[in-house]
Amino acid sequence: MLSIRQIHPVFVGEVLGADLTRPLSPADVATLEAGMDRYAVLLVRDQDITDDQQMTFTLNFGEIENARGGNITKPEEYRLKRGMIDVSNLDKDGKPLERNDRRRMFNLGNRLWHSDSSFRAKPAKYSILSARTVASQGGNTEFADMRAAYDMLDDATRATVEDLVCEHSLIYSRGSMGFTELTEDEKAMMKPVRQRLVRTHPVTGRKSLYLSSHAGTIVGWPVPEARDFLRDLNEHATQRELVYIHRWRLHDLVMWDNRQTMHRVRRFDESQPRDMRRTTVAGEAMTAEQAEAA
Ligand SMILES: [Fe+2]
Repeated sequence: MLSIRQIHPVFVGEVLGADLTRPLSPADVATLEAGMDRYAVLLVRDQDITDDQQMTFTLNFGEIENARGGNITKPEEYRLKRGMIDVSNLDKDGKPLERNDRRRMFNLGNRLWHSDSSFRAKPAKYSILSARTVASQGGNTEFADMRAAYDMLDDATRATVEDLVCEHSLIYSRGSMGFTELTEDEKAMMKPVRQRLVRTHPVTGRKSLYLSSHAGTIVGWPVPEARDFLRDLNEHATQRELVYIHRWRLHDLVMWDNRQTMHRVRRFDESQPRDMRRTTVAGEAMTAEQAEAA
């Protein structure tokens, strides 16, 4: 039987008694789902799993998200099989990407606070990240609780955000880092989508701020005013008390609810391999009506 203990004052649980190389019982799946609803981030230590075991585990929580349109890496450059998202610093041959490699520069966007796939009309539910080779220094992943961030808004700001809708795109997050050289095909693939700024969790009913570096505009607002306001909200939402810093150990597995949290990865020595493999549970609903049929 699994159990979960909270390891941060605000959120984040550690799962004890799990062996993810084996199929989970329905009771264990229910425990993990309830744990995700409550803690929003779960850590499971010492899970030496294969890609197939990770995908099997992921399917307990929904469908695997279609990765199309999430990266500029071409299919022939993929290191991992379909269903696995490569968030390592490695090329197809397992070597660290060169400093000026376009894929590396694009992936540097993961160092900005974000929610996975907020650039999709139907954004991700959970992300599940498995540490296969860890950085010797740095490379922490930080998480922020967007429910607490919402709860801590002052009344006037809470009223302001209530019905706002943002436009999210990889063009905005990468553009904010100066990565602007995109082909016409890439730009078409990264067409902005609309997301509500306040989400309500389908199970717990808790509200959260739905922020992400992919958010670049607020519908109906002048762009500089929207960016200023979003920057302010991001600063509020990532204040130290609301952030859990995960220091990776080999074979850690961390899963998080993208509907209730943001995350970012920190710098590390990129001459060394850092092999992190993600699976993503597809979202079940859109947060806002889209501007036009996709
Ligand atoms: Fe991410």
